[in-house]
Amino acid sequence: MKFVILGAGGLGSVIGGYLANAGEQVTLIGRQAHMDAINENGLKIDGCRGDFHIAENLTGVTSPDDAEGEFDYLILLVKGKDTETALAEAEQLKNRCKNVLSLQNGIGKEKRLIEWAGDKVIGASTIEGGTLHEPGHASNPITTPTTAYFGELDGGITPRIEAITDAFNRAGLGARSMEDIYHVLWEKLVQICTASSWSVSTLAGGDLYFADGLAVREGAEHYVAIARELLTVYAALGYQPENFYAPMSQFKELNSVSDEKAIEIMQALGERMKNDPGGRRGRTSMHEDVTRGRKTEVDEIIKPFLVKAAELNIEIPTVNAVYRIIKVLDNYLKH
Ligand SMILES: NC(=O)c1ccc[n+]([C@@H]2O[C@H](COP(=O)([O-])OP(=O)(O)OC[C@H]3O[C@@H](n4cnc5c(N)ncnc54)[C@H](OP(=O)(O)O)[C@@H]3O)[C@@H](O)[C@H]2O)c1
Repeated sequence: MKFVILGAGGLGSVIGGYLANAGEQVTLIGRQAHMDAINENGLKIDGCRGDFHIAENLTGVTSPDDAEGEFDYLILLVKGKDTETALAEAEQLKNRCKNVLSLQNGIGKEKRLIEWAGDKVIGASTIEGGTLHEPGHASNPITTPTTAYFGELDGGITPRIEAITDAFNRAGLGARSMEDIYHVLWEKLVQICTASSWSVSTLAGGDLYFADGLAVREGAEHYVAIARELLTVYAALGYQPENFYAPMSQFKELNSVSDEKAIEIMQALGERMKNDPGGRRGRTSMHEDVTRGRKTEVDEIIKPFLVKAAELNIEIPTVNAVYRIIKVLDNYLKH
């Protein structure tokens, strides 16, 4: 199959690299230095499944107009702040793509894509990790046994959903087709919103990682307070936690115990991560953005919960405070 990835940074390079390595034809659209490095020397990926280098089946271009031919799937992977520009630049390319999806974080991304590409759009979610280290070199620090979900936005599983699920599975990216993709999209948002809100509001002031904050009792208390509020909104939307991204999701467990027990669970997790050389240096991409001086996805990741909570008359004071804190930081981040 032919894939085009619009926004080949950290995650786009990892997903594109795995698909190309499995024999799919992949065109990456990204920035000059990274695309030049890939076209000259291929793409190096290291991380949780081991290291590999891929030069076949992979082409890098810097403009959508230079992506040649027709594509089965376009995968949008710019950050939320760049979506409008990227879609405007890809107007001609859209006509050469049969299906369109976004693996970005957020809940409004599919609605925005439908305005752009109508019924070409399918729903999709992933937890796969990707960081761009230098031109031609990305790393893939995290995954879970099922790392991607696909489904029709009006419910159901069609051949185009099964085909992309199969392609991801062939590439080693464990994937499932879903009847109700919005269930996964909302739960992923609970997960990334909890982790990012907590991480930035707790750790952004120093060279600290997830484990450093969770291992402190007050850090674990803050985590549980955020998770509880988001799970309340999630439940009011009619969903129960499924731990779609187990073992990294722990919402079923947190939902079924007292606050005190939940704090103990999170603090113990922090201690375990601190003692595990592999888990010690975990950070969310929003935390990385703040550390690197880049604008965050605060409006894609936290704001949807504030909007839903207001609609549903639910108080989420901790998340509200965190949103305000991160908005202040975001205001001074440059790029
Ligand atoms: N990374 C992860 O682990 C992960 C996991 C799950 C979901 N996600 C989601 O995936 C999305 C992408 O995240 P990421 O971490 O991969 O971001 P990223 O590393 O910043 O990658 C995005 C890339 O797109 C480039 N870009 C921006 N506008 C472009 C345009 N018009 N044409 C071509 N390239 C353009 C950016 O270049 P510049 O930097 O020069 O702007 C950057 O290289 C986000 O929504 C994120 O929340 C990420």
